[in-house]
Amino acid sequence: MSDPDKPQGLRRGLTSYGDAEFSLFLRKAFIKAMGLSDDALARPVVGIANTFSDYNACHGNVPKLVEAIKRGVMLAGALPMEFPTISIHESFAHPTSMFLRNLMAMDTEEMIRAQPMDAVVLVGGCDKTIPAQLMACASADVPAVVVPVGPMLVGHYQGEELGACTDCRRLWGEHRGGRLDAQAIERVNERLAPTPGTCMVMGTASTIACMTEAMGMALPRSASIPATHADRLRSAEASGALAAAMAVRGGPKPTQVMTKVALRNAMVVLQAIGGSTNGLVHLAAVAGRLGHRIDLDEFDRLGREVPVLLDLKPSGAHYMEHFHWAGGVPRLLRELDGLVDLDAPTVLGGTLRDYADAAEEVSGQDVIRPRGNPIKPFGSMAVLHGNLAPRGAVIKQSAASPALMTHRGRAVVFDSVQDMTERIDDPALDVASDDVLVLRNAGPRGAPGMPEAGYLPIPRKLAQQGVKDMVRISDARMSGTAFGTIVLHVTPESAVGGPLGVVQDGDTIVLDVPARRIELLVDDAELARRRAALGARGSPGAAAAPERGYAALFHRSVLQADEGCDFDFLVPARAFEDASR
Ligand code: FES
Repeated sequence: MSDPDKPQGLRRGLTSYGDAEFSLFLRKAFIKAMGLSDDALARPVVGIANTFSDYNACHGNVPKLVEAIKRGVMLAGALPMEFPTISIHESFAHPTSMFLRNLMAMDTEEMIRAQPMDAVVLVGGCDKTIPAQLMACASADVPAVVVPVGPMLVGHYQGEELGACTDCRRLWGEHRGGRLDAQAIERVNERLAPTPGTCMVMGTASTIACMTEAMGMALPRSASIPATHADRLRSAEASGALAAAMAVRGGPKPTQVMTKVALRNAMVVLQAIGGSTNGLVHLAAVAGRLGHRIDLDEFDRLGREVPVLLDLKPSGAHYMEHFHWAGGVPRLLRELDGLVDLDAPTVLGGTLRDYADAAEEVSGQDVIRPRGNPIKPFGSMAVLHGNLAPRGAVIKQSAASPALMTHRGRAVVFDSVQDMTERIDDPALDVASDDVLVLRNAGPRGAPGMPEAGYLPIPRKLAQQGVKDMVRISDARMSGTAFGTIVLHVTPESAVGGPLGVVQDGDTIVLDVPARRIELLVDDAELARRRAALGARGSPGAAAAPERGYAALFHRSVLQADEGCDFDFLVPARAFEDASR
């Protein structure tokens, strides 16, 4: 129940004029300019974070969703108040969307705090938006429900189903290799994203939506309903009505839903869905806001126990709409009973078991596999350690080449994303298919913003010979839609003195995923000599620190990948003391 001693509705968070009644008088005077009645203004208030933007095609359905949410709020007797926040689209954010995630989290958190609302509906979807909103509501701790915008429908080309953006990369690779001409790739370009909504493979947006539902922060099936379907609007209306009820009850609050158990459930689901590596970074950021650490060793152990059950690209064959019609997250949770804790709470006030029990059983579906017949016998990701990654690195083993899971090769090093861009296709580049491509200065601070550059392209001359995969290592991230034998999030990053900074062309690198090792075969004395020669530079090619604005704040404050790349001043101190570390 809401606290009778705490102000509700329009009385919350009054502007400071030194006279509370005058503050309320003034607030009501101004809001009445919108034509609102005293009856409306006396209701509990539900804020709706609107992330529509002409720059964000993934959120093209947000106006309709907001309309449906408002309808739900009003049908339940509360007052909806829509407000804008930053919106981030992957392809329209320079230098990277990750660079802006924390800004969006700060914007959303402060707007929830600053404006009067008894509950909030967070409408998000494109990769960084829901993580930013979860971080924000974890800190603001106002009752909240997430409404994902939902996935796009699939596209079609030459009788084949296409999806952003696994097929973007695959077919661009074919074009680079000379097997798809300019006219064909243009036609593909028109078909990859045929509707509003988020990428319809198990990329970062789908991963985060599934984890959000599995953490109980969104209504059942809301992760997978296609963006353009009527059910999506009905789910938005129901979320609005739920938020109105939460506003009256005063809960549950995000800290009561996103418990340590819920965070662990999210880790299990991340492994079982063949989820994006970005999901791990964002989960660490959300956990940090709640005072917890994501234990990478525990995550790796789960990866040995939890099989990949979803047959979705990039680990499998299908798309999000197929997952939806196979039963969505509730059906998956039922399959994962015992691995996930179904007694975890949800925004509905019950438990995850309610979601699982109500799951639709679809006979003959082959998208959500039974535990006895998984897509992969192991989880989506493995965590690697070694002298190249003292605090860990991640590989999406479910989307890697089995033949490269143990590999020894010669390092071919790029000092930055720019250096890689300039040299990767140089016919004179000394590179062979069994080499290991290394990219540094692409981490949270070094790039900055940890771009999705970890999917280094196969050098053109090798692509033209038919090479489709190579071992690649970096302190960068990778799109959840990508595939390949790619080691990411090397921590600490080279820009803060991590070992990638001392790798040289020709060094031998050993990758051993079954043994969870990533090693540079250079003796300690030589590594110490190289480190001393670098001095304060930390890493060859490191960029100068920015001097002003958000970039300077980012450079000073961003944490490493294992800590979620949040800002140090946004994370409560207890997160660093968490016994689970
Ligand atoms: Fe928005 Fe993929 S670009 S979800």
